[in-house]
Amino acid sequence: MKTHLLSELGRRTEAPPISWLMATALARPQLISLAAGFTDNPSLPVEEARGLLKGILGSSQSGQAALQYGTTAGDTALRWLTAHRLHSLDDRPAARRAYSPDRVIITNGSQQMLYMITEVLCDPGDIVLVEDPSYFVYLGILQSHGVRARGIRMEADGLEVARLEEVLSALKKNRELPRVKLLYLVSYYQNPTGRTTSYAKKAGALKLLKQFEAAAGHPIYLLEDAAYRELRFEGEAVPSALAIRGSTDRVIYAGTYSKPFATGTRVGFGLVPEPVFTTVLRIKGNHDFGSSNLLQQLLARALASGIYERHLAVLRRRYAHKARLMQAALQQHFPEQVEWRTPGGGLYFWARLPRRLKSGSGSKVFKRALANNVLYVPGEFCYADDPTRPKPNHEMRLSFGSASEVNLHKGIARLGAVLRDCLGK
Ligand SMILES: Cc1ncc(COP(=O)(O)O)c(C=O)c1O
Repeated sequence: MKTHLLSELGRRTEAPPISWLMATALARPQLISLAAGFTDNPSLPVEEARGLLKGILGSSQSGQAALQYGTTAGDTALRWLTAHRLHSLDDRPAARRAYSPDRVIITNGSQQMLYMITEVLCDPGDIVLVEDPSYFVYLGILQSHGVRARGIRMEADGLEVARLEEVLSALKKNRELPRVKLLYLVSYYQNPTGRTTSYAKKAGALKLLKQFEAAAGHPIYLLEDAAYRELRFEGEAVPSALAIRGSTDRVIYAGTYSKPFATGTRVGFGLVPEPVFTTVLRIKGNHDFGSSNLLQQLLARALASGIYERHLAVLRRRYAHKARLMQAALQQHFPEQVEWRTPGGGLYFWARLPRRLKSGSGSKVFKRALANNVLYVPGEFCYADDPTRPKPNHEMRLSFGSASEVNLHKGIARLGAVLRDCLGK
């Protein structure tokens, strides 16, 4: 019998592209990174956090409570505030059950929730339906677990529902439907495309999933990743899938306080239906038996005091400004043949080059960009391996989150010059 040091999962897990991108950025201090998903440094709430921590540690009683272990599901006040906040964001006063604090689990970033949900529901060989393109770190989780991702084409307002139906029908015909566990949507200002899924599309997708449940032999959940929901600076607010009638037992909502407050706190959360809730809680018990109590209390106080909401207003103005700067730079420096759209929130622009011009990590464009000290995320990283189509390789994700105002402009100017040069030849 052949023995291995590493487990099957350990052997299967590939290096995430993000590690490579970060190592590339660190190796070149002069590099302008439009690749990082980091948030804006100068607007991190340092003073606010200082004041909140002083309050927590100001008395022995509250200090001791914060410096002690908490519970696996999370701080009671934060779970309540989270449920209450989501209920009011969705503005659906009638539907109380969906927003019960008992359904909330606080996690170490929403990333931990995404990981645990996948671990709880998927075995190697199972299938998760994802947007095409999707969040590349989630694709990494799937790859690591031996789960197949199947991409669903997108339109300007989210996934193509007719395409979802075609894919589900084809899987049913091949008797693969029992392997389908989830539809994963990054529904607000999507990473990487900046697109938002309309409420009608969420409802349409959920209806289809329910239609195919009988043939699957089990529920097919809609996993809504709302990481960028609160970073909205333009357009109407869109309710989450939790607001859809009859969604309570089929929607898993993953949210975060890291992007809209401070990424370093790593406080995220999920609203999870049974029986997934109990199982996720057991798994979290095995992972860490609870997220940092101190940081959860920091968030609870930020929310309860109104500091969170005030900070969010500052962040929205800041990102609106940075998005406008990037837009102006793109207009000025990018060749006309490149297509892009200004997002209404989040941190990303998605640029589409003419198909003949490749953008992948081995491409001339990428290498020249690096030589000119500017980095982007190649679009190819954001596509799942899919036997039904070749991976597109002519797009780039450009982030306006962490680069300074000056560097945003400089970075786009450098990239524009590279594109012009490559197109001209
Ligand atoms: C789409 C998406 N989901 C989830 C996350 C995880 O964020 P966090 O763990 O900080 O909540 C990210 C982070 O970049 C993201 O882009």
